[in-house]
Order: sequence, then structure tokens, then C-alpha cells
Amino acid sequence: MPSDSARPFAILVTGGAGYIGSHAVLALLDAGWSVSVIDNLVTGFRQAVDSRARFHEGDIADAALVARIIAGDGIGAILHFAGSVVVPESVEKPLKYYRNNTANSRSLIESAVEGGVRHFIFSSTAATYGIPAEIPVREDMPTVPINPYGMSKLMTEAMLKDVAAAHPINYCALRYFNVAGADPDGRAGQSTAGATHLIKVAVGAALGKRAEVAIFGTDYATPDGTGVRDYIHVSDLADAHLHALDTLIARPDESHVMNCGYGRGFSVLEVLDSVDRITGGTVVRRMEPRRAGDPDALVADNSRILATTPWRPRLADLDTIVNHALAWERTSAKR
Ligand code: UFG
Repeated sequence: MPSDSARPFAILVTGGAGYIGSHAVLALLDAGWSVSVIDNLVTGFRQAVDSRARFHEGDIADAALVARIIAGDGIGAILHFAGSVVVPESVEKPLKYYRNNTANSRSLIESAVEGGVRHFIFSSTAATYGIPAEIPVREDMPTVPINPYGMSKLMTEAMLKDVAAAHPINYCALRYFNVAGADPDGRAGQSTAGATHLIKVAVGAALGKRAEVAIFGTDYATPDGTGVRDYIHVSDLADAHLHALDTLIARPDESHVMNCGYGRGFSVLEVLDSVDRITGGTVVRRMEPRRAGDPDALVADNSRILATTPWRPRLADLDTIVNHALAWERTSAKR
């Protein structure tokens, strides 16, 4: 079946029922793309997938299923979000990460090549850098992951590089910094069970879903001693995928590795201050020792994505990010 929109082909989004994937699905649909989603619903939610998308429940490593979707839905590009994302878990269960993020990606990439898919966008991560020698971190700086999560993603980047040199497919590996917030129109947000991300945890505490927020480390080499991160709004990140896709289509002989961040960092205390400012309350803070494997500061040099694509940040204000995360958190007592 050919693509049913004015666009030349349809897009397959893996992990489209997850946090970032569901926002990418919205952005693609809003831009007029025809979208198919494959998700095994292990961590994703069926209701997170917009009803305009075609939904296929299953695994990206099921080559027969993926082949049927590529041929049947007229897929010309894949946005690959499916995977495991919890850094400490990757230390406990490295083989889970090398299966879900590396081996299953290998299978998906092979299905893409065999199915004649021309473009591939991969969810990579700032965790590929490990502890950067310099801040802000550029894409050409050394990639020395300090956990299996980062390594599992870096290995997939390596596969894509070799595959793009050998086959008629180009790719973007987008290295996300700290993704946060929710769709400004309230259509999607982060529902992940047992989430540990700072902004999600902090807005949960502000709404009384948890008693306090632990601050993991107050002796970092940062202005206030707490960890500094480059928080990027999930809808800006979804928009970066649209521009990456347009760039891959316009320049089919080029592939790109690009940071996705704003180039500025906020400390844990600054994030908690933002939450307090917005709610008018006071989140209870508890000082804790450092969490294993946390770098002091992680901030993107985003000059490459700015130079390569027309993408520009639209929702970079920290209070906006926190406000949208809070609005989503309010919509369900369970989340
Ligand atoms: N933090 C706290 N208390 C919490 C949660 C986090 O103090 O309850 C601190 C962390 O120590 C860190 C900062 O807040 O300094 C951000 O921590 P997150 O857990 O929100 O995010 P991480 O930076 O550890 O990791 C996230 C993603 C990774 C990704 C990385 C890239 O989880 O997948 O960003 O920057 F690789």
C-alpha cells in the first residue's frame, strides 16, 4: 500500500508509544507525513500513539514483521526510538542493553537495507561522550562511554556509519542531552513507570506524588556544587527530527551525527527553584551522596545542528519546560 499523504513515502517510527517517540509521531503527523508505529509496549503505552498513525504491536527484531510493514505501508524512512534507556540498569544488566539497543538495532538496520529504506534517524545520546574533557561538548570530541547504555548506543552509531558507506541509505545519529517537558497542547508527555529523571521527579514531588527530591551530590565542580545538564524540550527535540529528515532527503549522500541540546546548562538546584517558582510551593530537598557515573556537567555545543539544518530552539526557557512537564503530570493521578 503506498503512502496515503502528499509526501513521497511513509515513515516508520520504532518506539512510537514511548515518551520521545510519541512526540515525534505528533510532529510528523502535524507536518503531513503518513506515520506507522512499531512498539512492543514493554515500556510504551498504546494510548500514547495518536490515532492518525498506523499501529503495529511487535518487536523491531521480528524481521518478518518489519519487512511486511516496510513493504505494506510504503516506508521510505525510519525514525528509531525503541530501546532501553535507564543508565544504572544498564550497569546491572548490560546484556539487556546490548540486545535491545545494539543487537535489535542491527536487525532493524538490516531490515531497512533489505526493504530499500533510504533514510534512518537514530536516537543516540550524550552518554556516548562519557565524562567530557571540555564543556560544551562537540560531536568530534572523544566518545568514551562510562556505562553500557552509552556504549550500546555508540555501537549502533558505528554500525550505521559502516552500513551507510556500503548501502544506499543515509542516516542521522542525534545525540540527545536531557530530554524533558511535554507537548505544549497536552497531547503527550512522559508516562514512564518508575521514572528517575530530575524534572519528572521534581514535578511529581510538587504535586505530592512523592515526599521529596533527593539531590545526588553537592560537591561537583559546578557553580552551586550540583550537577549541571542541558535540558531540551521534548517538542523541540521532535522538531529536530523533522529537520533531520528533510536534510537526509535533500542531501542523500550525506549522513550526520548531531548533538541535540541548547548549549546552556542548569544545575539541580536551579531546576528545583524553577519548579518552586511555577507552583509557588517548596519542594522538599534531601541532600544525598553522588550517584555512580554522573558527570559534573553535560552541555551541548549545538553549532553543528544549527549549521546543518534550519532547526532552531523554540521552547528553551527552563520555566516553560517545567511548566509543560507539570501540566502533563497533573493530568493523571497515576503518573
Ligand atoms: N538528579 C538528582 N535527583 C534526582 C534525579 C536526578 O539530583 O532525583 C540529578 C542527577 O544527579 C543529574 C541531574 O539531576 O545531575 C540529571 O539527572 P537525570 O537522571 O535526570 O538525567 P541524567 O543526566 O542522569 O541522564 C539523562 C538520561 C540519559 C542520557 C543523559 C544524557 O537518562 O539517558 O541524560 O545527558 F544519556
